[in-house]
Amino acid sequence: MPAHGGTAALETPRAACDMGRMTSLPPLRARPDVTEFLLTRRSRPAKTLAAPRPDRTALEPILAAALRVPDHGKLEPWRLVVLSDAALGRLADLTARMGSARDLDPDKVAKAEAMFRDAPLMVAVIAAPQPSSKVPEIEQTLSAGAVCLGMLNAAQAAGWGANWLTGWMATDRDWLGAGLLLAPGEWVAGFVVIGSETVAPPDRPRPDLARLTEWRNA
Ligand SMILES: Cc1cc2nc3c(=O)[nH]c(=O)nc-3n(C[C@H](O)[C@H](O)[C@H](O)COP(=O)(O)O)c2cc1C
Repeated sequence: MPAHGGTAALETPRAACDMGRMTSLPPLRARPDVTEFLLTRRSRPAKTLAAPRPDRTALEPILAAALRVPDHGKLEPWRLVVLSDAALGRLADLTARMGSARDLDPDKVAKAEAMFRDAPLMVAVIAAPQPSSKVPEIEQTLSAGAVCLGMLNAAQAAGWGANWLTGWMATDRDWLGAGLLLAPGEWVAGFVVIGSETVAPPDRPRPDLARLTEWRNA
């Protein structure tokens, strides 16, 4: 009987298709530590994150975990751009320039500029919709959102704080072209800031499971 007390788990390793490669996965088993992690996971506000940040060796498994998402049709409708140092400074300058040229609220522009200027490290999750007669674009977008959540969780599991941000830049064609050289049709599903926790702000109220869930058995 498996540890979770449910129906019998598979007893032998089985093949799984992983990004086009066949790999062998161990049989399912209960992971209460992972459940506990998922029940307590939370973002850390970007403005509370600082150096040190993960280096490339520490970041790669986080990115690999993030890309391990459900992806209808294996279209890979997303890609990543890792931003640090001068690249973030350049995006901060661009945001300030473009925000003022558009007459946006100065506070909003300053906040958006600081998002890049102050980030210890940022990963732009690019939604890159692929032509498909089978998989609607909305499903591809959901998969890109899953990449963002997977990245938050993988970062936290490795001991880093992370925050999923967007803002007007995420869908502004001119900003996306000049700042990230995105192709037409691509946009930013999330700017994920990753760094070290400096303070532990209180958690926010969490959704009420009973109010949000219906149980139907007939
Ligand atoms: C698609 C998306 C975009 C978001 N954009 C912003 C943003 O631009 N600025 C912000 O302060 N919070 C933004 N948030 C909310 C933050 O990620 C917030 O920290 C998060 O909701 C905290 O949730 P958690 O603690 O469950 O991870 C966004 C959330 C999502 C899902």
